[in-house]
Amino acid sequence: MPATSVVGLQWGDEAKGKIVDILTERNDIVVRYQGGANAGHTVVMDGQTFKLSLVPSGIFRPEVQCVIAAGVVINPPSLLQEIEGLVSRGIQVSKNLMVSTRAHLIFPWHFEEDRLMNESTSGEAIGTTMRGIGPCYRDKVGRSYAIRLGDMYRDNFADRVEQIVAAKRKILTGLGCTEDSFLLDAKKIHAQYCDYAERLRPFVGDTTAYLLDAVEANKKVLFEGAQGALLDIDHGTFPFVTSSNSSGVGVPSGSGVPGRWVTKVLGIVKAYCTRVGGGPFPTEQDNAIGQHIREKGNEYGTVTRRPRRCGWFDVVAARYTARLSGVDSLAVMLLDVLSELPELQICTAYELDGKRIMNFPDHVEDLRRVVPVYESMPGWQEEISHIRRFADLPQQARDYLDRLSVLVGRPVEVVSVGPDRQQTIFANDVHNA
Ligand code: IMP
Repeated sequence: MPATSVVGLQWGDEAKGKIVDILTERNDIVVRYQGGANAGHTVVMDGQTFKLSLVPSGIFRPEVQCVIAAGVVINPPSLLQEIEGLVSRGIQVSKNLMVSTRAHLIFPWHFEEDRLMNESTSGEAIGTTMRGIGPCYRDKVGRSYAIRLGDMYRDNFADRVEQIVAAKRKILTGLGCTEDSFLLDAKKIHAQYCDYAERLRPFVGDTTAYLLDAVEANKKVLFEGAQGALLDIDHGTFPFVTSSNSSGVGVPSGSGVPGRWVTKVLGIVKAYCTRVGGGPFPTEQDNAIGQHIREKGNEYGTVTRRPRRCGWFDVVAARYTARLSGVDSLAVMLLDVLSELPELQICTAYELDGKRIMNFPDHVEDLRRVVPVYESMPGWQEEISHIRRFADLPQQARDYLDRLSVLVGRPVEVVSVGPDRQQTIFANDVHNA
């Protein structure tokens, strides 16, 4: 059976790109199915660093077909810049990239709305990436003001832009913007998007049909999740979430491939936790430990460079998202970042109103009030980024991984000890150790 999915089980930035890049070797097709240029994937190859936002990490292998499916929202200049940046560094991007005609487009008004909504929210701001993601998904669901990639090649494209610009002008003015601040000129926007349409033409296709044919022909397909399951619009820490289904449940809706084809789900976690933007984070360490993790792990946003909030591993959250995404096994990333810390803490349960709970709260205000219950483990002092076999890891590191595995209830299949492809320890070693 053909399909594997790779899902982040925390608040994103779990280093999924590295795992996807490694797994592409065993797959024919790699698919992005939700999110947009709010995602940032870093792939380090032969000492060269590549940052991807929309293009699947499979792009570095020319024999692999990369697909940006219907559930992704696309800002055409970002996608073009990414494609052109890859090409200028010698990476082949042509027939090996296919972008869905059904994918929704981000327009300049979406950026303006993202900014306004963030500023005008009372209380803690969501702290979005300001890439127009939420407003574009809102228009998709609302339908009246939405434009999809395939619409750019239709005769009524100019009329659609004109109608929507007229409506958006009223909305933005109503929100308190002055005309000069949002500068929406329908003719200019139309001309610009026609240029993007021509440059994107070689990549555009019906990815839903393509993927259905592929799974039925027994091709090996890899689904690459963006963000993490705790940011899922329906099942995450709402409203401090992104606007798509970033847990495993997003695969069928975003790609059009029924969930029954996905036979293996790999859940990606960091050896600790991070979060960017607002929202509760029970195990956050806003102190020297958090600072140590941030500096050692270079925990600054790939897209926005914002410092990430850092904290201890949260089993309550990871067990919830592992179940939600149907995870079979775990990849534990950035284990090397914990080296040198004398003592490690794992959050094994929460206390809420004096009661111990194991379930992840369904309301953000309850999550804000939980008190984490920690279990301590001794750390290890030595550097581990050169280690390639599980058996060669310090005993304390092995014990830490075993404990995470038992508590989350899933085996650890992969361990990452550095950003390079080579700095990876695989399950066989784990089991043979
Ligand atoms: P948006 O996706 O830009 O609307 O942002 C909504 C929330 O999701 C904010 O807290 C962002 O920081 C977070 N977010 C979006 N994309 C990512 C990501 O790729 N990694 C981590 N957090 C993300």
